[in-house]
This record gives sequence, C-alpha cells and structure tokens, in this order.
Amino acid sequence: MRHRNVKDAYKRLELHQSVIQSPIEHKGKWRKLFNNNNPIHIEIGMGKGKFLIELAQKNPHINYIGFEKFSAVLAKALEKIDQQEALNNLLIIREDAEKLCEFFDKNELDRLYLNFSDPWPKERHAKRRLTYISFLKQYAFVLKKESGIIFKTDNLKLFEFSVNQMKEFGCEIKNVSYDLQNSHFAQENIMTEYETKFVKQGLKIYLVNATV
Ligand SMILES: C[S@@+](CC[C@H](N)C(=O)[O-])C[C@H]1O[C@@H](n2cnc3c(N)ncnc32)[C@H](O)[C@@H]1O
Repeated sequence: MRHRNVKDAYKRLELHQSVIQSPIEHKGKWRKLFNNNNPIHIEIGMGKGKFLIELAQKNPHINYIGFEKFSAVLAKALEKIDQQEALNNLLIIREDAEKLCEFFDKNELDRLYLNFSDPWPKERHAKRRLTYISFLKQYAFVLKKESGIIFKTDNLKLFEFSVNQMKEFGCEIKNVSYDLQNSHFAQENIMTEYETKFVKQGLKIYLVNATV
C-alpha cells in the first residue's frame, strides 16, 4: 500500500512522548512503563488511530498499545492524540508485526485487535496476511492463555481465510458475525477509520472473536 508522504513524519515520531523509540528495551516490563498493573490491549495495524484513541478514552483502566509500520500514517494518529486530553494509557510502536515477539514476553498481553488488515488477495502473498498461522503463533506467545483476538474486516475472503487459520491453529471461536452493524455487537462497537468509510458505502462488516 502506498501512502502520501507526511512532511517530517519520521522526526515527529521521534519527538512524540507517546511513541516508544526502543520497544525492545521494554520487553517483559510494559506494565512498569505504564506505571500500573492494568491489562494491556494491542491493535496491530492501528492506522490513523481513531479506534484506539476512543478505547483509551473510554477505558482509563486498560492500557493500550498501537502497533503500526508506516510513519506517515502514524503521524496522522499523533495529530489526533495531540487534540485530546493527555492519554496516559496509550503508547505507540512503529514497527512491523513480524517482530512482535521481540518486544513482548510470553503472556504479557491481554487482548489483540486486528481491524481491516490488508487482505493481500494474491495466494503467493498469503503469508503476509496478519491472520496467517505464523502470525497467530506469535499472538499466542504474547497473549495470556484464553485471551481474545478480535478481528474485523469488510473482506469476506480474508474473513473466511482468517477463521480457518484460527481453527487450524486451535483457537476457540467465541463469536462470529457476518453483519456487525445489524448485530448485538454493534452497541459496544467502536468504528475504525476504514470501517466508517465502508459502512457509509453500505458494505457488511465481518467480526470474529477467538481465544488462543
Ligand atoms: C487497511 S489499514 C486499516 C487501518 C485501521 N486499522 C482501520 O481500520 O482504519 C491497515 C493498516 O495496517 C498496517 N499494517 C499492515 N501490515 C502491518 C504489519 N505487518 N505491521 C504493522 N502494521 C501493519 C498498515 O500500514 C495500515 O495502516
């Protein structure tokens, strides 16, 4: 995916207090960094941050970590963060999800969100999908037992692939919706940037909640 260059994005990320510059140093010690023992929830591919910012505002007793590989996208998220009251329960990591286990210890996280992950439709790119089994293995390592992976997408093929990968890996599928907006999950649902756009277009949103 190509992104418009955001002027000085790299520099802005380096200077921002919400962005963790050397996440590897905090492996096994994230609660110390948050200065509490609250649960830690992570979103992989947080994009421009609407979802995590709203969650962090709504749930001050949960710590949130946003994981995103593109600086230009994160610079937009930082602009949003700066427009809010200080959020002590939200930190950001600019990295590729492939490196997740370098930054988190076994059982360190309590929930993982994947929202509108890139579909990588070509079969030869299947390994890049964030629900490919090699990623699920990493999630199972960093998440506490029985913790949830919550995945939303508008892409039915990616959704079915993801549910199958989860089953193959041995996840327990807790909830599935083929039309999130018209289900009882809609009440608690926080919309992401992509979700807002797709719902306006009348697309159905698929949701799966599975435990590792
Ligand atoms: C389609 S966007 C969705 C953004 C946001 N979650 C939303 O729903 O509005 C997918 C995001 O995931 C990020 N992403 C894709 N693969 C990633 C990876 N391996 N590690 C970290 N971020 C990734 C992309 O840079 C992009 O910002």
